[in-house]
Amino acid sequence: MPMFTWTDEYELGIPAIDKQHRKWLVLLDGLYTAMREGRASAVIGKVIDEVVSYTKEHFSFEEMLMRSHSYPEYTEHKQLHDEFVKQVAEIRERHESGQMLPAVQVANTMKQWLVDHIQTKDRLYVPYIEGARHRR
Ligand SMILES: [Fe+2]
Ligand SMILES: [Fe+2]
Repeated sequence: MPMFTWTDEYELGIPAIDKQHRKWLVLLDGLYTAMREGRASAVIGKVIDEVVSYTKEHFSFEEMLMRSHSYPEYTEHKQLHDEFVKQVAEIRERHESGQMLPAVQVANTMKQWLVDHIQTKDRLYVPYIEGARHRR
């Protein structure tokens, strides 16, 4: 039973972005499941690595899209991305140094950030990208 399920409220209407956001949520769910089931530390480490690299991949894609549409809030948005990358890297470090991470707390924090970010920040660039699409 997944802890995190995608709902239509998270849709931005940009297929490539929605697809990435969905995949991100699936990865977080995998992390939560691995932690909750008490998987071996190496297994959890691998899942955290996946979250780290997918987070970076998604952010790069989104930033490229914002830049190519001259999104005016680009700098602020990128800063939020950078802060989150730092947070995830910190979780990875804590895990690598042998700290027990509270599964629910870690997963919830990430999920909350993701969902909040999509709904309050990502949503703001949609008209710029859609506008460009309509002008084509
Ligand atoms: Fe974003
Ligand atoms: Fe995003």
